[in-house]
Amino acid sequence: MQRSIERILKSKIASDGAGVKINRNMVGEDLTFFDPFLMLDEIYSDDPDDYIGGFPEHPHRGFETVTYMLDGKMRHSDHLGNEGTLEPGGMQWMTAGRGVLHSEMPVQESGLLHGFQLWINLPASEKMQEPNYQDIPRDLIPVIKNGENFSVKILAGDFLSEGQNVRGPVSGINVEPDIFDVHIKAHTLEIPTKVEKKVLIYVYEGCVDVADQNIKSQEMGMLSSGDSVVFTSEVGSKFLFLSAMPLREPIASWGPFVMNTFDEVREAIEDFKGGRLIG
Ligand code: FE2
Repeated sequence: MQRSIERILKSKIASDGAGVKINRNMVGEDLTFFDPFLMLDEIYSDDPDDYIGGFPEHPHRGFETVTYMLDGKMRHSDHLGNEGTLEPGGMQWMTAGRGVLHSEMPVQESGLLHGFQLWINLPASEKMQEPNYQDIPRDLIPVIKNGENFSVKILAGDFLSEGQNVRGPVSGINVEPDIFDVHIKAHTLEIPTKVEKKVLIYVYEGCVDVADQNIKSQEMGMLSSGDSVVFTSEVGSKFLFLSAMPLREPIASWGPFVMNTFDEVREAIEDFKGGRLIG
């Protein structure tokens, strides 16, 4: 059965870090709808006032952050001594686990900055694991192309379509995420999906049709269940395809902490205040 669009959500303009302007998705909604995804932010601006403040040192506990850059550069550093620069086309996969203190700052004073940060929940059994992060440069991200018709960057998981079977650079994640950056023009692309997985798409350029419903730029589509999705775009579209197994656990989310209960969130806040978040 083909998936259709159950609901379309427009992204909201928000500000985070030290005044960074973002298009924010999922936050403020019932997060069980998106399980195991928690948030998707898009930064898109060529006005340095919108991003120059960056995200100075801040904590996280209980989930994973996936940062994917398209234009511009961001530098990150964390309390473990990890440092790196995210370049266009590159990705960083950070497992906050029991706690991370890090900063994410632009490495430019002008020009376009365009990128995404996706939050993916961890199961209760893994929320207090040791933190970890992986920098994945552009060269390690496989791309499938069919002329001008479509291209798919496989950021995580498995792409099985158009006679291809390609695995992305990130594996071993509990919720088995498939994360693709899809570009389509005057083409129809069918992507098979595990029936049990949640599927969301976020259009960041142009518009795309799914089962005769149109999703436009800066809109997120929540898809019904099914074993495939058929995308068509005549004018051209660029979108993120997000798919993963739901956790079906209680979600207690407060700022940079996502736990199963609000007692655990309070403990995270106390640990942060008392300098115990990072062990
Ligand atoms: Fe962060």
